[in-house]
Amino acid sequence: MRRVVCPGSFDPVTNGHLDVFTRAARLFDEVRVAVLVNPDKRGLFPIEERIELIRMAVEGLDNVVVEAFGGLLVDYCRQHEVPVVLKGLRVAADFDYEQQMAGMNRHLTGVETLFLPTDPALSHISSSLVKVIASHGGDVSGLVPAHVGARLRQRLRDS
Ligand code: PNS
Repeated sequence: MRRVVCPGSFDPVTNGHLDVFTRAARLFDEVRVAVLVNPDKRGLFPIEERIELIRMAVEGLDNVVVEAFGGLLVDYCRQHEVPVVLKGLRVAADFDYEQQMAGMNRHLTGVETLFLPTDPALSHISSSLVKVIASHGGDVSGLVPAHVGARLRQRLRDS
């Protein structure tokens, strides 16, 4: 069984993330999307809602599992017998940050990290920018799935 984990905050999931999950699902037998529970950072969506939004987006992908995780990523990998972390890389700045984390994770338990270059058509997308655009009433279609866009508008209306 070739297993991989795609970890992140996913607040909320974007079309860039979904591109990585979809490509990972073709390369691995099982893709585990692990949503970080970070007690120090509240975020816009609660963890359960982030998970729900990702599950809706990956409905057609039978080998993708979505769940929460807390603590160290390497401990999650050990518990679930996942030897590989997969990260999408958009721009050069992503590489600097990700390379250090990859090195640390490998130092801790030997877990390997693979980088997948983001589809250039999606490399401008980030959850943070999507939230800024939505908060000013901008159009987020093409950046996130339609159900995520609707939930963003609803949440920003209610807050
Ligand atoms: O979407 P993000 O916020 O860029 O994802 C970052 C994430 C969740 C992959 C990273 O913060 C992480 O792995 N956190 C878990 C805690 C941990 O293991 N930290 C040490 C990394 S070297």
